[in-house]
Amino acid sequence: MFYVIGLGLGGAEDITVRGFEIVKKAERVYLEAYTSILTVGKEELEQFYGRSLIVADRDLVEQGADEILQDATSKDIAFLVVGDPFGATTHTDLVLRAREAGVSYKIIHNASIMNAVGCCGLQLYNFGETVSIPYWTESWQPDSFYDKIFGNRRRGLHTLCLLDIRVKEPTLESLTKKEKEYQPPHFMSVSEAAGQLLEIIRRKDGEYKELADTGLHTARNEGHSSGSTTPLPGNNRTPASS
Ligand SMILES: C[S@@+](CC[C@H](N)C(=O)[O-])C[C@H]1O[C@@H](n2cnc3c(N)ncnc32)[C@H](O)[C@@H]1O
Repeated sequence: MFYVIGLGLGGAEDITVRGFEIVKKAERVYLEAYTSILTVGKEELEQFYGRSLIVADRDLVEQGADEILQDATSKDIAFLVVGDPFGATTHTDLVLRAREAGVSYKIIHNASIMNAVGCCGLQLYNFGETVSIPYWTESWQPDSFYDKIFGNRRRGLHTLCLLDIRVKEPTLESLTKKEKEYQPPHFMSVSEAAGQLLEIIRRKDGEYKELADTGLHTARNEGHSSGSTTPLPGNNRTPASS
């Protein structure tokens, strides 16, 4: 059996009882360690679980599915994911590969950033499309996340912005080399995300100017009677996105 087990968002003890029981008895246990991170490292998890874990980095997950699924028809293999296995994470591919290989699988759910965002006080029912804000590079500066935030705002919805996490990311220079070199881990701060959003507003100028200046103005233009919409980052009042 192939088990995909959510670890929740806090520390080692946030695994569910069901997930813990599987981890204790599984033949191999992989720890997905590049889309999210816990507040504790591999060593602390190993100590709490009382067993060793295999770190599954991006290369292993994206190119080593066969290795992960090896023996899973006859043995229990567990794959640990921070948060919920399907909470804004694309591990569907691994599950589809398990199905294709005739491997049975079970998903053990847990808390996800998708619902934990409720802690900021905004009503989960009123969130629109979630966006990921990636670190810009010199040659790659996407801005589609801004359009999605804009679309949510037009409908009076909040936006959950997932800020980039770069763990074990190869340097551009080593991408084509056999021996990859890795950038130090970095985590996008709110001010870095806001900086990119402001830069997009600056570039789009006329197009989004009124939204950047005042969400209230935009809401009125669209015929809403309520003036309760909140401005986007860049305005010195309450941000609409979290
Ligand atoms: C691809 S999503 C994976 C989410 C995870 N599977 C879940 O269900 O919560 C990863 C993004 O979620 C956000 N994230 C994950 N854990 C978080 C936490 N504890 N606090 C804030 N943001 C978090 C980060 O923006 C990160 O880049």
